[in-house]
Amino acid sequence: MRRLMIAGNWKMNAASDTTAAWLDAVVAVNAPERDLVVCPPFPYLGQVVAGLEQSQLQVGAQNCASEDGGAYTGEVSVAMLADVGCQYVIVGHSERRALYAESNELVLAKTRRVLTAGLKAIVCVGETLSERQAGHAEQVVGQQLSLLLSELNTTEWQAVIIAYEPVWAIGTGETATPEQAQAVHHFIRSQLAARDVGLAEATQILYGGSVKADNARELFSQPDIDGGLVGGASLDADQFLKICTA
Ligand code: G3P
Repeated sequence: MRRLMIAGNWKMNAASDTTAAWLDAVVAVNAPERDLVVCPPFPYLGQVVAGLEQSQLQVGAQNCASEDGGAYTGEVSVAMLADVGCQYVIVGHSERRALYAESNELVLAKTRRVLTAGLKAIVCVGETLSERQAGHAEQVVGQQLSLLLSELNTTEWQAVIIAYEPVWAIGTGETATPEQAQAVHHFIRSQLAARDVGLAEATQILYGGSVKADNARELFSQPDIDGGLVGGASLDADQFLKICTA
């Protein structure tokens, strides 16, 4: 039986004082049957790891280098993330695909780095509004999954979580309906099943795109939605706690 996972993606939003207040409010969260994760910006990883030492909440990063170290000014390696206590890394977020030209090949390379370091990869897929309006949502998501499905072995897949984030629902308040999200999640699970039925059954598929306290329960009740990747609402401790326990 797949565990529900709720992961908060703070994106480029944090400060020491607001992070300290957030930690105080959520450190005692108690949802033992769920995987709970928060992904702050790089500079706050140490503060968040230290603040959650006694918490169920685990810590992730929002990105990583595809190289393992060396002359890559400004980059952060997975080895560094593991060293400071990260257990997850978000890979291939639509904002990185769009703004930083992250290709499916680069997403695969980063995912491999994460898995090799013993961390878990939350790999993001999702279509734009124009792709959905053209009826190409499943085609786009299928293409984003294809390299991972052909190149990662079943052992590697055990440390992969997929996050379906329709780009048109990110930060817009235009959440996909539970039916829309379930349809794509079912498609993703069918693509996994074509590779390996056991892998399909075991892989957590999160939904992301305007998840809020008032829509989380209905979304998470869908058969192929195994939780959420939460942006804006994760910055508000009360909202995030409600989503974690929805
Ligand atoms: O990675 C999660 C993010 O893309 C969703 O953002 O603000 O729509 O919950 P938001």
